[in-house]
Amino acid sequence: MRFEKSYNPQFLDAIEDKQDKGLNTEKKIKYFNPQIILQNVNTVYEGERYPTLHDINLKIYKGEFVLIVGPNGSGKTTLLETVLGMLPVEKGSVRINQKSVFKHSRQLRRKIGYLIQGVEFDAQTPFLVKTAVMTARSGRLGLFKFPKKEDRTIARFCFDVVRNKEEVEDYWERPIGKLSGGMQQKARIANILAAEPEILLLDEPFANLDVNARQKMFKLFLRLNRLANITTLCVSHKSEIPKGVDRVVMIQKGRVVLDTEPEKALKSNKYRAYCQLL
Ligand SMILES: Nc1ncnc2c1ncn2[C@@H]1O[C@H](COP(=O)(O)OP(=O)(O)OP(=O)(O)O)[C@@H](O)[C@H]1O
Ligand SMILES: [Mg+2]
Repeated sequence: MRFEKSYNPQFLDAIEDKQDKGLNTEKKIKYFNPQIILQNVNTVYEGERYPTLHDINLKIYKGEFVLIVGPNGSGKTTLLETVLGMLPVEKGSVRINQKSVFKHSRQLRRKIGYLIQGVEFDAQTPFLVKTAVMTARSGRLGLFKFPKKEDRTIARFCFDVVRNKEEVEDYWERPIGKLSGGMQQKARIANILAAEPEILLLDEPFANLDVNARQKMFKLFLRLNRLANITTLCVSHKSEIPKGVDRVVMIQKGRVVLDTEPEKALKSNKYRAYCQLL
């Protein structure tokens, strides 16, 4: 789809690549310039005596697709929120694009699409899906700048791709609280995509989605990663490692216990033990 004054045509083209041609694109990760760096990080929740994350050292490179796995309560969500600079850090540093996430939080958060885990809107939530998706465009434009017709078109376009036009019902103008869990999840994904983020932090993005929708959604994230070079951190509970993932990071009891390529992860005893646990 072509927009008159498209902000990021590469991003929007990647969303639309209907034949999934982009999935075969060869990756060009530059392994010398990390985009996200966590160095010796301990994250401690307010009021807690002990850190939830211990001594985290991670470097994520621009354009990487990283799968984050680990048992319930191991610290996966805490890790994503630490990357976002949302949580108190007892020691260490967190940097994105060479900038501290604590000092430049507003500027950096605009570049990040964060899909929060398991949010469901109350049935009484008064706003419509289109309003929810449009908030992403308004946030992207910043203060005192109002969305134009093109912003509305982009928001609708993201929603249509995520929703998948084959779906019978168009729920663009329905109150978000009245939708099923899966529909809400799709609206929330459309919302983060409509902001055209540079980095995606996805916390259980496939929750509430049926197998078909899950596969389509994964391909959409992969296209964005391949064609628009969107760095992606994706938390998943499933034991399979989808094709296209560059790296697997496993968290246990707040520590990184495995950080390797998918093939090596699948062969490792730690990953096997984790799969048995599931
Ligand atoms: N706001 C908070 N205050 C104190 N402790 C918290 C807070 N949020 C999470 N925790 C604790 O931090 C630990 C890690 O939680 P986290 O939500 O990061 O795990 P997770 O790996 O995402 O789990 P799940 O797979 O269930 O989503 C847990 O022991 C949890 O109870
Ligand atoms: Mg979690």
